[in-house]
Amino acid sequence: MPLEAVNLKPSIGSELKVTAGMLAEGGLAREIRDLLVQRGVLIARDVHLNDDQQRAFTRSLGDLRLGTVRKEGEEGLMKVTMDKKVNPEYAEFFPGTFFWHMDGTYDAVPPFATVLTPRVLSAEGGQTEFANTYAAYDALAEDEKAYFETLQVVHTMQAAMFPAVPDVPVSQMQKWFTYPERVHPLVWRHKSGRKSLALSTSASHVVGLHPADSRGLLDRLIAHTTQPQFVYRHDWRMGDVLIWDNTGTIHRVRPYDAGSGRELHRFTLNGEEPISAA
Ligand code: OGA
Ligand code: MN
Repeated sequence: MPLEAVNLKPSIGSELKVTAGMLAEGGLAREIRDLLVQRGVLIARDVHLNDDQQRAFTRSLGDLRLGTVRKEGEEGLMKVTMDKKVNPEYAEFFPGTFFWHMDGTYDAVPPFATVLTPRVLSAEGGQTEFANTYAAYDALAEDEKAYFETLQVVHTMQAAMFPAVPDVPVSQMQKWFTYPERVHPLVWRHKSGRKSLALSTSASHVVGLHPADSRGLLDRLIAHTTQPQFVYRHDWRMGDVLIWDNTGTIHRVRPYDAGSGRELHRFTLNGEEPISAA
């Protein structure tokens, strides 16, 4: 049976008409992967995947990232929550998600894609937004494309976290500095030949530019990329599943109360290619 899908915005997002069984069984994986890299974000409503179904579905799309949390029955599962009792290891990093970012820019090869489902929703806020970085690149003027293809950007955990945790205790800050600093090209030429902007709040500075010019350029590019025509905003409902291509989008969550108990279950796929220069 062919995959049934409808576009959500002209340049980003599609809704799949599928059941939990169709996703977990894996028969649509090839078509879903192809659509994902074209559309940036895919969602389905009313599917109510449990953890095992969500893991099986994620595995059907690529190489499951196992991460550092190894609990019985929770292989590969990351609980996205600011509740330290639920996720003692990572809760303090999730404030970083309020700013536009790509996941895993501190890795040589950032994750390919992530599958999210909601388990507890906040009464207010907590919508997740995605911007298509292929479409944003394509919309640049030709001389801008040519210039940006010459630039390299330094990415750090502290650049991503400082705006989110301005009153940080030194002990917490020290953990940020244990993450590696990475230099990635600003324009990513993918194996497919398509090009995207490799942007993120983790972008500390552009190599070789004055810090003031660098900040101005990175801020302008984020503003360009997150114009409404490139953005899909997801209003969560219980039963949803959402998949995003982490290599062709940036994302952020809209403000929600840290005490709301908001919790999403996340399974991630390992990356398949480094951010390569054009
Ligand atoms: C993430 C993330 C956004 C959200 O899990 O990488 O950015 O809506 N989550 O919680
Ligand atoms: Mn993220």
